[in-house]
Amino acid sequence: MSAKRIDGKTAAAAVRERVAKGVAEFERRTGRPPGLATVLVGEDPASAVYVRSKNKATAEAGMASFAHNLPDTTSEEELLQLVITLNADQMVDGILVQLPLPGQIDSARVIETVEPSKDVDGFHPVNAGRLATGLPSLVPCTPYGCLHLLKAELGSIAGLSAVVVGRSNIVGKPMAQLLLGENATVTIAHSKTRDLPEVVRRADIVVAAVGRAEMVRGDWIQSGATVIDVGINRIPTDDGKGRLVGDVAYDEAAQVAGAITPVPGGVGPMTIAMLMRNTLVAAHRRAGLGDPEGL
Ligand SMILES: NC(=O)c1ccc[n+]([C@@H]2O[C@H](COP(=O)([O-])OP(=O)(O)OC[C@H]3O[C@@H](n4cnc5c(N)ncnc54)[C@H](OP(=O)(O)O)[C@@H]3O)[C@@H](O)[C@H]2O)c1
Repeated sequence: MSAKRIDGKTAAAAVRERVAKGVAEFERRTGRPPGLATVLVGEDPASAVYVRSKNKATAEAGMASFAHNLPDTTSEEELLQLVITLNADQMVDGILVQLPLPGQIDSARVIETVEPSKDVDGFHPVNAGRLATGLPSLVPCTPYGCLHLLKAELGSIAGLSAVVVGRSNIVGKPMAQLLLGENATVTIAHSKTRDLPEVVRRADIVVAAVGRAEMVRGDWIQSGATVIDVGINRIPTDDGKGRLVGDVAYDEAAQVAGAITPVPGGVGPMTIAMLMRNTLVAAHRRAGLGDPEGL
């Protein structure tokens, strides 16, 4: 069997196109575009690439983009002051502080300072709590993108057995909440899970968010399962450039799975598309409008 390759790029382009239409409509109704502020502290190359692509996508969607690049010597107080200023800025609907932050800054304090209605990353405890209790919230972009791909692939996932490998606040836990919200039967696995291959073998849906290159092997996958690979790991190559791989051994897993996301080109593009979607939703809610339809 050879699995269907789930094309995240095409799915993300469709979401971004719908967002762009929603942005134009929002501007027509309110007289201003939705705005996203990004905050990058320091010069971590991967973070800089992510933030640049987020700013580019924001502009392409027709939204206002406010980029704040701070030196890695920035103090926690300075960063908190910037967040407080952005919280009060009426042109800013979404605030994204790129993680990880330099060691002198407590990320949890920064996340808790972002106004929940502008928390387009969905990391604020208020949004995490609302998601967990089934209330409307801003949902973390990566797991939301994964859910979008799963629903496009499977339709209803009610009653299916889903295993999420990884329990971070930004991917694993909200992913599990979203799957539970869709009535899947959810298992969350982590570094202390016993006999992980056996646990994964029971899954109709596998979401791998671990950060370990190709850890999930082909013989862990149930025949016909749907596999969503969140991992982004750079492994060395002979030419010195390195190569991106996921947390799943793609070639092996594709022999047994029913459908699988590639890395790159799977979950990654969906993360940015969902950030655009969240910013548009935040703008609507802040303007007292109903949520945009079809997103
Ligand atoms: N595609 C995207 O847009 C996107 C977005 C975000 C993240 N990512 C990628 O997704 C991956 C996960 O990110 P993250 O932020 O969630 O990572 P993280 O915060 O480091 O969490 C990793 C999780 O994996 C678990 N884990 C580690 N080793 C394990 C093992 N041997 N067996 C089972 N579980 C194990 C950890 O368990 P414990 O809790 O027990 O330590 C932890 O819960 C990374 O590769 C990251 O680059 C991609």
